[in-house]
Amino acid sequence: MSQAAIIGILTVSDRASRGDYEDRGGPAIQAYLTELMSSPWMPVSRIVSDDRHLIAAELRKLADETQCCLIVTTGGTGPAVRDVTPEATGDVCEKMLPGFGELMRKVSLEKVPTAILSRQTAGIRGKALIINLPGQPRAIRECLSAVMPAVPWCIELIGGLRLETVPEVCRSYRPPGA
Ligand code: MTE
Repeated sequence: MSQAAIIGILTVSDRASRGDYEDRGGPAIQAYLTELMSSPWMPVSRIVSDDRHLIAAELRKLADETQCCLIVTTGGTGPAVRDVTPEATGDVCEKMLPGFGELMRKVSLEKVPTAILSRQTAGIRGKALIINLPGQPRAIRECLSAVMPAVPWCIELIGGLRLETVPEVCRSYRPPGA
């Protein structure tokens, strides 16, 4: 059995972190990844309030200490005063990957006109790929299914494990000969 990939799931929400309501975004990410992944993996889930420093600290911990190869965040990507997940992501990443946000907004726009309000992005910290998703639980599958085909190759390029996906759920793309 090959080594299990550790995947961080970070819910960013003042209300979920206070326990005012149940977190639905984090479990939706885990459910989608459970359907998707065919190689061994292990989720590490966290909830944090909409605080730029706390989000950045949690992302650093998940990347550097927990050694996640992939960290998926949900929430805090919009225009409201407390929405700062993309800023915190930028704070901790060495490289940004704007194509992820561009593609997720494109596919989301086919579902909802407010998709343009999400500033979701992605970036690299060390050997971790960090991807922002909006907080709306139904956005999770819509956004992740669009970008997932490129995720395993991205993780290999930054020195991570080889992730395998269930082809009926997501056909990962690797360049010919890779
Ligand atoms: N994208 C998808 N696929 N589905 C959605 O319902 N909601 C939008 C947008 N992107 C949405 C979406 C809305 S209404 C907002 S305000 C922004 O994401 C930001 O959401 P967030 O602040 O919860 O991250």
